[in-house]
Amino acid sequence: MKLKDRIALVTGGGSGLGRAISLLFAEEGAHVIVNELRPETAEQTVSSMKGPAGGRAIQADVADSAQVKAMFATIERELGTLDILVNNAGIAFGPGDDRAEVNRKSEALIMELLSGQGGQTHLDVTQNLSDESWRRMLAVHLDGTFYCTREALRLMSKKNRGAIVNLSSVAALTGLEVVPHYSAAKGAILAFTRAVARDVASRGIRVNAICPGYIDTPMTERMSPLIRTAVIARTPLRRTGEPHEVAATALFLVSDDSSFFTGQWLSPNGGLFIG
Ligand SMILES: NC(=O)c1ccc[n+]([C@@H]2O[C@H](COP(=O)([O-])OP(=O)(O)OC[C@H]3O[C@@H](n4cnc5c(N)ncnc54)[C@H](O)[C@@H]3O)[C@@H](O)[C@H]2O)c1
Repeated sequence: MKLKDRIALVTGGGSGLGRAISLLFAEEGAHVIVNELRPETAEQTVSSMKGPAGGRAIQADVADSAQVKAMFATIERELGTLDILVNNAGIAFGPGDDRAEVNRKSEALIMELLSGQGGQTHLDVTQNLSDESWRRMLAVHLDGTFYCTREALRLMSKKNRGAIVNLSSVAALTGLEVVPHYSAAKGAILAFTRAVARDVASRGIRVNAICPGYIDTPMTERMSPLIRTAVIARTPLRRTGEPHEVAATALFLVSDDSSFFTGQWLSPNGGLFIG
């Protein structure tokens, strides 16, 4: 077992990638704390765990500094330490985003291209984004990653050991026109990963990122069949990914197998982005 006697925190662990990561870490011997906004989903993850050290659920909105502080105070009081943090909690659209309209225009664009025309349809997502959507997107992804990282480093610094993995995205590498706010947040997470990796390397703490391509989770299940086909057509391996393929990447980055990796990103993406 690669994570025997380690204590791990996975944010947004009640669904999709967070759940797959939590279950794999538990199987590898870690005691896994599953953070969620929706506590019942975290409980479901914990009850599905097959591992000697089990886990526990903890509710907090990672975008709220006070809630994150309270979550880490509980972890310190009950467990005394933390070895692994996965900043995974996320949203693909902000409050009030017109997801149906973006999908409709994306489909119109694809049809235009298939018919050999172009230039008729304009996505115009950025000019229609609200302040509220922009702020919530950055709050969940970027503030959340910062708040959890700051508290985790305080615990990890006590023993000069730890591993942090941040969920970024191919959206950070290529820019995803349908979600400019999401792309911005994920790009900032990559820059933050690099800076913090340099900051805490002397303490034996490694910080890396994962930039997944399209993975089948509740986040992507509302893609229409046409958009899904277009994504697969642009993906050299000709399929979308599965959560266990991202979980395996996370396991590598938090285990001693990646002991010389810090400040890096790995991108399980089927070849969608090759860089
Ligand atoms: N699925 C993909 O194709 C894909 C690709 C690249 C990156 N990602 C990233 O991977 C991460 C996980 O995505 P997923 O596909 O599993 O999504 P998901 O929607 O299945 O799961 C995300 C979970 O995060 C939780 N969450 C949201 N806001 C939260 C908050 N403020 N505090 C605590 N928990 C919160 C949700 O309740 C949900 O359970 C996200 O950061 C996402 O941006 C996903």
